[in-house]
Amino acid sequence: MRKITISFTLNDQEVSVETYPNKRLVDLLREDLGCLSVKEGCAEGECGACTIIRNSEAVTSCTMLAGQVQGDEIITLEGLMKNGELCTLQQTFLESGAVQCGYCTPGMILSAKALLMKNPDPGMEEIQRALSGNLCRCTGYTKIFDAVQMAAERDAEERS
Ligand code: FES
Ligand code: FES
Repeated sequence: MRKITISFTLNDQEVSVETYPNKRLVDLLREDLGCLSVKEGCAEGECGACTIIRNSEAVTSCTMLAGQVQGDEIITLEGLMKNGELCTLQQTFLESGAVQCGYCTPGMILSAKALLMKNPDPGMEEIQRALSGNLCRCTGYTKIFDAVQMAAERDAEERS
C-alpha cells in the first residue's frame, strides 16, 4: 500500500498529513499530529479511552482508519482549551473529584462534550447513556456523571 495525503480539520486547524490510509486514527493522532491526550486502552472499541469527536459525534479512534477522516472535523481534548484555559468540563471534572488516574478522562470529557454540543441541558439518564461506552476503573462513575451535569448547569448560567 502506498501513502496518501489526508487532509482534515483538527481542533480548528487545517492539517494535511502523508500517511498510509490503513493507519489507525489513534496512531495518526498520537504519532503524526502530537495529540497525546488520545489514549489507547483495549484497542478494540470497548473501553472508550481513545474517544474523539468526529463531525460532532463521539467515536473510538482505535476502530477508525486515517483514510476515513478525509475532509472531516476532528476534535481532541487538546482542542477544548481556549487561550490556555480549561473548558467547563475540564474544570468540573477536577472540582468534582471525577479524575483519579486520569486515563479515561480525555475520552469521558469528549463523549460528554459531544452530548452537550447536541443537547446543552441533558438529564442524568442521557448523561449516563452518552458515557456508557467509556469505562473507568477508578471513580465508580457517580462523580463523572455529576461533573457533566455541573458543566451543563454552569454553561447555562453563563449563557443566561
Ligand atoms: S482503545 Fe479504543 S475503545 Fe478502547
Ligand atoms: S480515572 Fe482512572 S480509569 Fe477513570
